[in-house]
Amino acid sequence: MAVAVQVADLAKVIKEKILVDRISFSVEEGEVFGLLGANGSGKTTTFNMLSGLLSPSSGSVTILGKSIREMQKFKAEIGFVTQEDSFYETLTVRENLEYFASQFGVKGSDARERIKRLLAQMKLADKRDVLASKLSGGMKKRLNIACSLVHDPKIVFLDEPSVGLDPVVRREIWAVIEELHSTKKTIIITSHYMEEIERLCGRVAIMFAGRIVDSGTPEELKKKYKLKQMEDVFAHLVKPVVQ
Ligand SMILES: Nc1ncnc2c1ncn2[C@@H]1O[C@H](COP(=O)(O)OP(=O)(O)OP(=O)(O)O)[C@@H](O)[C@H]1O
Ligand SMILES: [Mg+2]
Repeated sequence: MAVAVQVADLAKVIKEKILVDRISFSVEEGEVFGLLGANGSGKTTTFNMLSGLLSPSSGSVTILGKSIREMQKFKAEIGFVTQEDSFYETLTVRENLEYFASQFGVKGSDARERIKRLLAQMKLADKRDVLASKLSGGMKKRLNIACSLVHDPKIVFLDEPSVGLDPVVRREIWAVIEELHSTKKTIIITSHYMEEIERLCGRVAIMFAGRIVDSGTPEELKKKYKLKQMEDVFAHLVKPVVQ
């Protein structure tokens, strides 16, 4: 398997505060990789650097063999599903998808075809002409994911995709992620839900106060710390962050 994402000694320091502290990991093509961490441990900051929104203070990111300094060359390969919804509440579902398609340079029949498929995949076809502000929480989450997939990226970052959702809607989001996995996308997901991580991720890295404190498959980690549940492994490695 080829390496899709390679992160080496990546760090972010803002006003002398270390947000991400020299983390390293790699993700293979087609893998679902989990970045686990308590609130404030640096997950979103890491994602912002991986997707080019934030420049690293030091270290390197290589995506599909290209360095972050060649960002324009791999931007089209990345879909970033942000923690906060990034669509426009005042546009309809279809208008949002059309807007994001145009932003990614997807035009004409390609855009129409892609939007039609995403509406079906995200079970939003009958909501296509509804204002985004009128959608339920689960539908908004699915629209947020759809907006990041209009350009059919090879690598998808999902920042806490199921936070604040009820258990039924959460399972719907998991099914969407599993479907993306079955289409050979490389997926990196942040979460602090152990059930989500164990169900979706082949390997995980556990972050604490900006550092990766351990990584491996959930089974390997449970065995290593002689604990039965990932929740116990997480609690063992992660102490509450005092801000
Ligand atoms: N622009 C910024 N300037 C200063 N500090 C920041 C900035 N952005 C984030 N932080 C701080 O950096 C730390 C890491 O934040 P980050 O959002 O990456 O954590 P997270 O793991 O995504 O947390 P959560 O689970 O709550 O989403 C936090 O202490 C946060 O307050
Ligand atoms: Mg976050």
